[in-house]
Amino acid sequence: MEQYLIRGGVPLVGETDISGMKNAALPILAASIMTDEWVTLDNLPDVDDVRVLLETLRYLGARVEKTGRHSVKICGSTITTCKVEYEYIKKIRASYYLLGALLGKYKNAAVPLPGGCNIGSRPIDLHLKGLNAIGANVGIRYGTIVGKCDQLTGAHIFMDTVSVGATINIMMAASRADGRTIIENAAKEPHVVDVANFLNSMGAEIRGAGTDVIRIRGVKNFHGCNYTIVPDMIEAGTFMCAAAATKGDVMVRNIIPKHMEAVTAKLYEIGCEIEEFDDAIRVVAPRRLTRTHIKTNPYPGFPTDMQPQMGVVLALASGTSVVTESIFENRFKYTDELTRMGAQIKVEGTTAIIDGVEGLMGAEVSSPDLRAGAALVIAALAAEGTSIVDDISFIERGYEDFEQKLALLGADIHRITQRPDRLRMTKIG
Ligand code: EPZ
Repeated sequence: MEQYLIRGGVPLVGETDISGMKNAALPILAASIMTDEWVTLDNLPDVDDVRVLLETLRYLGARVEKTGRHSVKICGSTITTCKVEYEYIKKIRASYYLLGALLGKYKNAAVPLPGGCNIGSRPIDLHLKGLNAIGANVGIRYGTIVGKCDQLTGAHIFMDTVSVGATINIMMAASRADGRTIIENAAKEPHVVDVANFLNSMGAEIRGAGTDVIRIRGVKNFHGCNYTIVPDMIEAGTFMCAAAATKGDVMVRNIIPKHMEAVTAKLYEIGCEIEEFDDAIRVVAPRRLTRTHIKTNPYPGFPTDMQPQMGVVLALASGTSVVTESIFENRFKYTDELTRMGAQIKVEGTTAIIDGVEGLMGAEVSSPDLRAGAALVIAALAAEGTSIVDDISFIERGYEDFEQKLALLGADIHRITQRPDRLRMTKIG
């Protein structure tokens, strides 16, 4: 089991370059097979989830040629099957984006149901409802989402809940439907916009992405294109919170500051000094930060994927903060691990009440999921003493060179392999 060994108490200082956005790259990779011509993608993050999805595209028969660490050429003309094997869905939920891509291109798809995950049940009813609204005939048979139809027909769809995944899946399929589709109450995240821009680069006619009404006029075919993935706003926010928690001074480069506004505003509110540039933000935390309230919301609200990282910052701030998680029902699991480091946090349903403490103490902790794992690394960097963060495979699904980037900022962090004889203290009671 791979772990991080971290000696905390060192302020992070310096500059870091942000990679391409995982949550934009995954749907764009799925959509890349919707043309029979070559697609070139740049600024792909070199993370496990991207590697697994590339493997899935190869399994479907697509030609996939890595042209660099962050770039790939893909051609979907040689796809031999529309059936995605469960092993790929088990590895990453986002394989379900192949549903929209395969239905859009082939009007045929069989994709195993993704399970829940550590942050909640994560249903896909909105995906199915929207795809059926455009005639995809999707249903669930023996644990697999199966869809087959002669043609897709544009429809007027109102999303019951704002859903990034459902908005993207429906947008992909509808871009190849006959006629016009309107998606109301659509997700407005930057990665929804990035996917729309990518589809339009292949010849789609999508307008309004980034607003809550997306209008799509279906087209018969897509052509190849070259596309560059947008920077990862959550990776950027993670490093901004790491600077804040360690009383550091970090310039986060290669980002779109507009995407960071909710996070930037909160860090400024609690006492960070923030300097914005065209494609960078500098976060300085010279003194102890102060309390605030956080409520996660769909973009442009405070991102749920930044909730654990901000929870760590507030665990060290003076005063009592309240964090309300309104997107997922089980996204406070990191607080148990933080408590073991001396944090004072009480979780009641979807709300965490955080009494800030002067400092955290190093401990052995486990990553419950991707963003919680990154948050625990931030806590260990801020804590006095040594910590071991376990289950770092979660973290490496979504952060490229995480420990290397932190080490370049002065962090004392090393990747180690857990010694089999090392018995961890089990929680009693
Ligand atoms: C995407 O998940 C991201 N994952 C998540 O990031 C992110 O937290 C989430 O969007 C919200 O921003 C990827 O992009 C791969 P949703 P997604 O559909 O699309 C409910 C990370 O750490 N819902 O916007 O699955 C759902 O239960 C990950 O990178 C339905 O009820 O999220 C949730 O309460 C974690 N029915 C809410 O909508 C559906 O059919 C928002 O979920 C779909 C969703």
